[in-house]
Amino acid sequence: MMIHFRKYYYLLIGFLLSSCTSINEDKMWVQVNHNGENEVRVVTHQDTCPVVNIDGQPSLMETRVSGDNGNYPILVCKKTLPKTYANFSVLNQTFSHPLEPINKIAIIGDTGCRDSQNINDPEQWPFPQIVENISRHNPDLVIHLGDYIYQRDSRYNSQITERDKWEHWKTEFFDPADKLLKQAPWLFLRGNIEFLKAKEGWMKLVSAYPYSPFLVQEEEPFWVDSIEGVSLLAHDSSAAHRDFVSNVESYRSKLRKLDFSKDDKNVWLLTHRPLVGIVTIKNKNDNKESILSDSGYGLEVFKEIHSKLRFVVSGHIHTFQYIKAHQLPDQFVMGNGGVRLEKVAAPTILDNTIIQSQIIEKGMTINQFGYGILERHKEFWLLSLYSAKNTVLARCTIGKKESRCEFGAKN
Ligand SMILES: [Fe+2]
Repeated sequence: MMIHFRKYYYLLIGFLLSSCTSINEDKMWVQVNHNGENEVRVVTHQDTCPVVNIDGQPSLMETRVSGDNGNYPILVCKKTLPKTYANFSVLNQTFSHPLEPINKIAIIGDTGCRDSQNINDPEQWPFPQIVENISRHNPDLVIHLGDYIYQRDSRYNSQITERDKWEHWKTEFFDPADKLLKQAPWLFLRGNIEFLKAKEGWMKLVSAYPYSPFLVQEEEPFWVDSIEGVSLLAHDSSAAHRDFVSNVESYRSKLRKLDFSKDDKNVWLLTHRPLVGIVTIKNKNDNKESILSDSGYGLEVFKEIHSKLRFVVSGHIHTFQYIKAHQLPDQFVMGNGGVRLEKVAAPTILDNTIIQSQIIEKGMTINQFGYGILERHKEFWLLSLYSAKNTVLARCTIGKKESRCEFGAKN
């Protein structure tokens, strides 16, 4: 009798474990696409795409890209969502966050984990902790500014695209972000890592455009119109470079196709590389520190439309920065989402710093891990910068005409 009981007990445990495994292995999320539509996507290890039930109506998801026998042995599925719905379910998950209105936006950037960071130590790699904390804010939209995966493979140095594999995306992004992916829609921007070293994963998994087997050098910029009273522009700067400006005209020609006439000075620009961001470089020979702008390409690319931009949010520099200069849109840098922070921090106070002939009126650097929450108020938006452990590090009010930031604000 006892033997039989044990046998059924182990069978039951085995069944439960295999169920949990399959749910955890498959992934689902909702993302904003280039055409303004929201799309549910699924990564599955099954041979066919699953059924999605939208308000109880079942329909089969379509294939975005089939699995291969190499680095991406997964099937990626998609289904456009209607503008409104009560909920939908897929892969035993129910998603009930409405797509609109959007009044609270979470912002993260540069969340991947380098080889030199212990992926299991939240002090070294706090991205899972940041996801947990953002989840408590219950945002209406999550914006990722790019650079999702770094070096998790010790063999990486021998081959530059070694990390362009599903297992890396899973370990460094999809597993730790799982809770938030199931909770709110996302807007994904491409970082330079996804252009140079994880391009296949970008194209297959999270690009806002239809899948292409060929690398798209610069994806077209697109408007996100779902935030009332705001024109949010998603711009792909992943192929740009700090030091060369050969593709400036190509970027400009893409921007010229967009209509900027309707929202004078109310455009929020999201792009991986900042228009102005300050980094400190230590000279190896004499240990002298100097500061420079990373990356100046954006000043050239957006020269014709600076006056249209209310503010810019970028990642790429692994810190938080706020820069307000007279002739430029206000710049926020939020590349502090998990990857190792800047080794030599830029000065904390950036007031009166001159960079590329521009005088910074007000500026600050906070070299701590964290994330941003942008909330709508009646006359302004409030951007709160939180540490990974949820302390408020700064608060910035962003009005129609100007923004203002305070350090060390209290919870
Ligand atoms: Fe980057």
